[in-house]
Amino acid sequence: MRIALLTGGGDCPGLNAVIYAVVKKGINFYGDEFIGFLNGWRGVLDNYYMPLTLENTDGIQLKGGTILHSSRTNVKKIPGGLEKVQEVLKEDKIDALIVLGGDDTQSVTLYLAEHGINAIGVPKTIDNDINGTDATFGYDTAVSIATEAVDRLHTTADSHNRVIVVEVMGRDAGWIAYAAGVAGGAHVTLVPEQPIDIDHVCALLKYNYDHGKHYGIVVVAEGCELPEVGQVLGSGQVDSFGHARLSGIGDALADLIEKKTGFETRTVNLGHTQRGGVPTAYDRLLGQRYGLHAIDMVHQRKWGRIAVLHGTDITDIPIKEAIASNRRLDQRFFDVISGLEAKV
Ligand code: F6P
Repeated sequence: MRIALLTGGGDCPGLNAVIYAVVKKGINFYGDEFIGFLNGWRGVLDNYYMPLTLENTDGIQLKGGTILHSSRTNVKKIPGGLEKVQEVLKEDKIDALIVLGGDDTQSVTLYLAEHGINAIGVPKTIDNDINGTDATFGYDTAVSIATEAVDRLHTTADSHNRVIVVEVMGRDAGWIAYAAGVAGGAHVTLVPEQPIDIDHVCALLKYNYDHGKHYGIVVVAEGCELPEVGQVLGSGQVDSFGHARLSGIGDALADLIEKKTGFETRTVNLGHTQRGGVPTAYDRLLGQRYGLHAIDMVHQRKWGRIAVLHGTDITDIPIKEAIASNRRLDQRFFDVISGLEAKV
């Protein structure tokens, strides 16, 4: 078969591991040929691609980012987008499309599959919030980076008797905040699934000061809402899927904490450092396992489905199910956070 790959949405450590495994098994086991569209769906519309071979994918599984580059182009918003995609795939003699992306990108995959295009999905997001899968590659790397940052902030916060608020990614779900907050020993961990109680946050921090520790670490997910303010937007900009750019909850929260407690408070916004650099061993392994399953899905003609991790097995589900809602933290995880907080 002649197969095309693309990566859409925010990049994610482990994308190259998926590409590597798809190409390796596709060529060695199935005798496939590959191209990679560049810049996500934009590359399909522009018919801009590179060949993918055993030679030019050799070793990429160790690297972060995506050799295919990415964009947040939304085919559904472009007049004549579907027809253009159909035309390009015909011209390039593409038998199947493997799409690596999050829920927005996969909404396009589903739309194309519903219009007769042979397409399957591989879930991607550091936020780890895709429905129907227990873990997405990139999440483990993001958590490692965020945890290391939180670890490092303890000593400097302690030296200066400060509160430091660490803002991490996670627009709809607090998986990164939960894991980095707990693993990094944060005194307060705030996730979008729960409303922020600012008085409770201040009480937790005061408890530290009253019990010999004159500093505090707060981890907050970017998607958290402040009472009376809501989500904090980094700019007025909205992407082509209608999502506002989030950023700044850390600063807004730090201001409130300083005003209410009198503790000197600083903010660190980890931003895109969480998506950069090499993937962890876990993400390289998970990405390659997703890739091996994805190429099998193509040969089993599982159009409109997406690879997922269920427990320890990689399997697949309809894309429709995966994008129906976000996978969010529930009471079990809230209990972990609150069980490790001070009793105030
Ligand atoms: O991929 C998801 C995500 O990392 C979100 O947590 C974050 O809000 C968004 O991407 C940032 O995207 P961009 O790279 O467009 O700034």
